[in-house]
Amino acid sequence: MAQHNTHETADSRPDGPKTHGTNGDSDEGMTVRDIQDAYADYATWISRLRWLDHLFTGTYRRRQFAQADGRVLDVACGAGSNFRYLSEATEIVGIDVSEPLLEQARAELDALERGGTVAQMDAQDLEFDDDSFDTVISSFSTCTFPDQVAALREMQRVCRPDGRILLLEHGRSDSALVARYQEWRADSHYERSGCRLTQEPLEVVRRAGLSVDDVETAQFGRLTRIVCNGGATDRREVNR
Ligand SMILES: C[S@@+](CC[C@H](N)C(=O)[O-])C[C@H]1O[C@@H](n2cnc3c(N)ncnc32)[C@H](O)[C@@H]1O
Repeated sequence: MAQHNTHETADSRPDGPKTHGTNGDSDEGMTVRDIQDAYADYATWISRLRWLDHLFTGTYRRRQFAQADGRVLDVACGAGSNFRYLSEATEIVGIDVSEPLLEQARAELDALERGGTVAQMDAQDLEFDDDSFDTVISSFSTCTFPDQVAALREMQRVCRPDGRILLLEHGRSDSALVARYQEWRADSHYERSGCRLTQEPLEVVRRAGLSVDDVETAQFGRLTRIVCNGGATDRREVNR
């Protein structure tokens, strides 16, 4: 299988890709550098509100990520919120573009007394060989990737064909009332954080050509757990 090229890091590519807007269909949008700036501003709040995040999402993180095994890559790991839900038998590798959040992720590994490595890297351009992880996990990330399809295809490239890609995402609710609120907030939320409140996670995953094995939604359809296998039908196409 062809090796992936050596990549620039997010830092060495300040403009990042100009890609999708709030609905992933426009050429105007946040760049990787914009995302780094936004999360530098949020890092302190993310640290302070970590307990609240675990209260609302811990059940879903555990349910989705306790099944990860072997060498595990957490793409856009942020502050390392998933690490505590991974089995002790796994080898953790985390990547994110935000250095302040990666500092928190390193502290989380220390607090859990877990080995593992975290590194600054662009999810859209992973610096790993093809098929180098048994499980690739990612949570609440496709909403923020400037190029969602590129990032998902990278997850598939680095995942072994017999491995799994486990995603936990948020998106448009299937409750009309909640969806209306999300639509009302979508543009300002995107401008502040680069996060698409009204994305359709399953549609994005399908657009990337990943092969979906299982899907489950919760919280009025706002949260979606998606299990994909590492071997998409159009894998050769994807690797081009
Ligand atoms: C909403 S946070 C989720 C963080 C973490 N996965 C969690 O569940 O708490 C979105 C994360 O995506 C990261 N991110 C956005 N675009 C990225 C990219 N192109 N490459 C790597 N990380 C990225 C941000 O830095 C941020 O940590």
